[in-house]
Amino acid sequence: MKILVTGGTGFIGSHTSVELIEKGYDVIILDNLCNSDASVNSIIDSITNKSHVFYKTDLLDEDGIERVFSENEIDAVIHFAGLKAVGESVQMPLEYYNNNITGTLNLLKVMRAHGCKKLVFSSSATVYGVPKSVPIKEDFPLSTTNPYGSTKLMIERILTDLCAADKEFDVTLLRYFNPVGAHPSGLLGDNPTHPNNLMPRIVDAALGKTEALTVYGTDYPTRDGTGVRDYIHVMDLAHGHIKALEHMGGMKIYNLGTGNGQSVLDLVKSFERVNGVKVPCVNMPRREGDVAECYADASKAERELGWKATRDVDDMCRSTWNFALKSRK
Ligand code: NAD
Ligand code: UD1
Repeated sequence: MKILVTGGTGFIGSHTSVELIEKGYDVIILDNLCNSDASVNSIIDSITNKSHVFYKTDLLDEDGIERVFSENEIDAVIHFAGLKAVGESVQMPLEYYNNNITGTLNLLKVMRAHGCKKLVFSSSATVYGVPKSVPIKEDFPLSTTNPYGSTKLMIERILTDLCAADKEFDVTLLRYFNPVGAHPSGLLGDNPTHPNNLMPRIVDAALGKTEALTVYGTDYPTRDGTGVRDYIHVMDLAHGHIKALEHMGGMKIYNLGTGNGQSVLDLVKSFERVNGVKVPCVNMPRREGDVAECYADASKAERELGWKATRDVDDMCRSTWNFALKSRK
């Protein structure tokens, strides 16, 4: 099977591409490299010992997408490409709506024209807004608190309407919780230019790039007062995409998380213990828009896809640090 991976040189897309190639799929990566580097392509090839096709193409360029589909018989698409920084989306809403929504519409138009009607979409737990309770199930009410989240929710609705109108379309929405960790080789991982999420900030504090990790809020109604999230290893996430591809049929929605909540201090302690490093911390007030607890009920994916996260927090911390040390050069 030939799979088009949009955003395939990015963090999650690159790990998923490796997993796909290792499972025998033919992979075509499309990325405009706005948040990744072309060198990831050769890293993917060196890990898998196979080659894949890469197109430096923007999803805003419909002719460019058309070229990719004309030159390849694509069976299914895994659609990662998008802008993802919450704070930036508040500053630049038009760019976010245009990139994420117009990009997706262009992709869908070309897919339909070529009779390619299987799509797995990278959604996010952000579509649950402020959840009414935890653990979060797929049928919880949906809402958003920022433009990034709104693009995810709108794309989910577009895809739902498309499936209702055209029964030949198979779409699976995967709602990721908090992806962290890196490939065991230490060659692929998350390498943000301006880190906002917790794990890259722990790394920066451990490396001495920042003076300390700012712990946002120590007065939440959680066991140690800090925010609780569902951190999931990117290798488990990558595997979830293979399972989703194997079980397509109509419209399907799954949470991809571990089902376990970890606090900020839990993650810091695990990181220090498994890597033998210090992570200096400084307590700060709550970050605006944050919730106390957010973790998945991941039982639907287990029941229907036979998928379950298998890697623990120690593995997430170890592989993240391994990648940070190797990529620091
Ligand atoms: P990433 O930024 O590392 O990867 C996204 C890739 O898409 C990048 O390589 C970027 O260059 C590319 N891209 C962006 N706009 C494009 C366009 N118009 N045309 C072509 N390529 C384009 O992000 P990631 O962490 O790998 O996330 C992948 C997907 O998963 C995103 O859609 C993101 O919103 C979603 N997601 C991520 C997280 C997370 O914490 N990482 C959580 C939930 C959902
Ligand atoms: C963020 C995004 C969300 C996205 C998710 C996964 C925001 C507001 N939300 O969620 O849309 O789906 O990532 O990519 O950005 N923390 C600190 N210090 C830091 C950074 C974070 O204490 O320097 C805390 C936060 O308060 C939170 C936890 O760590 O309790 C996780 O934060 P983060 O990694 O940013 O993820 P989310 O806020 O869950």
